[in-house]
Amino acid sequence: MAKTVLVFGASGTIGQGFIKASLEKGDVKVVGIFRSEESVKKVSERLGNPAEDKFVSVVGNVGSEKDAADLQKKVLEKVGSYTDVVATVGGFSFAKTLLEFSVEEIRTIVCTDKIEPHFLIAKYFLLPIQDKEGTSFTFINGGAAYQPFPNFGHMTISNGALMKLVQVVMAEHKDKPVRINEFVIACFVTPWDNPTVPPGLTFSRTDNITMGKGLLGVIVHPNSKNVVLDVTVENVEKLAKDGTL
Ligand SMILES: NC(=O)c1ccc[n+]([C@@H]2O[C@H](COP(=O)([O-])OP(=O)(O)OC[C@H]3O[C@@H](n4cnc5c(N)ncnc54)[C@H](OP(=O)(O)O)[C@@H]3O)[C@@H](O)[C@H]2O)c1
Repeated sequence: MAKTVLVFGASGTIGQGFIKASLEKGDVKVVGIFRSEESVKKVSERLGNPAEDKFVSVVGNVGSEKDAADLQKKVLEKVGSYTDVVATVGGFSFAKTLLEFSVEEIRTIVCTDKIEPHFLIAKYFLLPIQDKEGTSFTFINGGAAYQPFPNFGHMTISNGALMKLVQVVMAEHKDKPVRINEFVIACFVTPWDNPTVPPGLTFSRTDNITMGKGLLGVIVHPNSKNVVLDVTVENVEKLAKDGTL
């Protein structure tokens, strides 16, 4: 079955790597969701301005129920239907110890940039495909949800909250045909052309095309459901090949 994959967070490191990996694969069309025309232009250029049968962009937001409902309408008008969703929003930062943050920063990181967009993406883009065979919804999360690190506590809290959201969605969809997966990245991922690692970060590193290929493996091989994948530098290539670990 040909796949049409919606990618939320298309301008980000993981999103761009996934699009780049998908462009090399037959039978996969990516619909990148961007928050601005400026991002569309920048990313399309970086990707070499791909043909419309492989890559389509839609500009919109999931900052409120109304924005998400408008975006759903826009996506359906532009692409008709889709088979898969990847939610890779919220970012990755290595900053300072937890108690050095202000409460406003924590609220933005945990609520505005993590839980609210994932909740609204699931509400407006999982419901339309949940009863269709051959569909999937993949949440991208970070290993900090499962393992706290110093100077990374803000990510542990936001990723941990996302992990719980995913668990509820999985439990509530266990009898539905749609596959729900949590793709937990337990390493540092850099853009394909900039392997810089922040000082003091000791995680192993890979590039976003390699990670994108692993993610694509999960989407195109329909052999997993409600799977939490602990993705590392060592196992990501197996994921690309087999779609499972
Ligand atoms: N990169 C890594 O090493 C790594 C490792 C482990 C896990 N992860 C996880 O992978 C996911 C993506 O990370 P990344 O490295 O690709 O981050 P990134 O490069 O900072 O990109 C973040 C993406 O999320 C979008 N975004 C941010 N806040 C949003 C909001 N409130 N509503 C909608 N979209 C929003 C951004 O859009 P704009 O461009 O419009 O701001 C951008 O497309 C995160 O969940 C992160 O925890 C990443």
